[in-house]
Amino acid sequence: MKGLILSGGKGTRLRPLTYTSAKQLVPVANKPVLFYGIEAIAAAGIREIGIVVGDTQTEIRAAAGDGSRWGVRIQYIEQAAPLGLAHAVKISEGFLGRDPFVMYLGDNLLNKGITHFVEEFERERPAAQILLARVPDPQMFGVAQLSDGKVIRLVEKPKEPIGDLALVGVYMFGPEVFESVNRIRPSFRNELEITDAIQDLIDRGLTVRPHIVEGWWKDTGKLEDMLEANRLILDTYERRIEGTVDVESRIEGKVVVEPGAVVERSVIRGPAIIGRGARIVHAYVGPFTSIMNDVEIQDSEIEHSIVLEGSSVRNLANRVTDSLIGKNVRIYRMPVKPVAYRFMLGDNSEVGIRW
Ligand code: DAU
Repeated sequence: MKGLILSGGKGTRLRPLTYTSAKQLVPVANKPVLFYGIEAIAAAGIREIGIVVGDTQTEIRAAAGDGSRWGVRIQYIEQAAPLGLAHAVKISEGFLGRDPFVMYLGDNLLNKGITHFVEEFERERPAAQILLARVPDPQMFGVAQLSDGKVIRLVEKPKEPIGDLALVGVYMFGPEVFESVNRIRPSFRNELEITDAIQDLIDRGLTVRPHIVEGWWKDTGKLEDMLEANRLILDTYERRIEGTVDVESRIEGKVVVEPGAVVERSVIRGPAIIGRGARIVHAYVGPFTSIMNDVEIQDSEIEHSIVLEGSSVRNLANRVTDSLIGKNVRIYRMPVKPVAYRFMLGDNSEVGIRW
């Protein structure tokens, strides 16, 4: 059994962060989303993982390396353009050979892992097995229709409602899938869709088994989903204070302060995580906040947010909330006249000012 993680693509819904970084490397609770996928595959006992990469491959290779950290071997498979999930499978045939494999979308997060899912596939050995979850907005996903416990139809981002069982970004395949990915044609969005390839397996009379997801699942492609995933993961952390906290500070609830972080004259109310080398000075860090390494929060308040490496938030009059702040961003208040907003923002940035 092999693992295939899809970590190419464009990440348009997380711009401007994804102009400069891979969406799969945006951290949730201070760990890149991609690493949760690698860990889930390793935990299921799979040792050979192929990662499909595109424009952001340098960064992904640097972050995940050869996989030895997780006890797995990682190979990288270059996709020249994001031509679809089935295209990614097609170009991975050399790596996958005739082995059955689990395909994991690099921006998906599942709290219960995939071990049961993989075991069930190995026991039953269908041509494919798909993971499904009920969602309120099925038009945003691939959707499956079931009959007598079998998958009978799949539609990618359906315009007309056909049910609420969305395809979660984890799939299992036997080698039969290669014939299907080679037969299908590009969709309305000009991609080779994995949903069409699975439909082709069904049309060929092969078995496609459904498996309903246990626990929660998140596709972290959008800001709201990222913040929700951050909330769900932080809530599972145990309190661990390894950095320096002065006597004037208060740490409440499930808070992780990594070694080398400094907290002075501040209140941190968990669930929250403060990364290595971060400095929290005369500040309030509220629930569901992830502060990455080397961030500085000074004379400011922040909650329900994610702040990436090297950024600083200083002297703000109002609390920052529901925010995703990229790397090396500086937000500060200047006590000079005229009282005004002064911005230097990249393309597709978003600033929300609440009164
Ligand atoms: O998250 C679940 C959904 O994922 C499913 O319900 C859909 O059926 C499935 O098509 C997919 O939809 P998305 O529109 O969310 O896929 P996205 O373009 O975000 O790509 C998913 C991952 O695969 C992401 O990590 C980027 C990577 N990718 C994507 C494409 C199109 C590649 O590596 N190569 C590609 O060509």
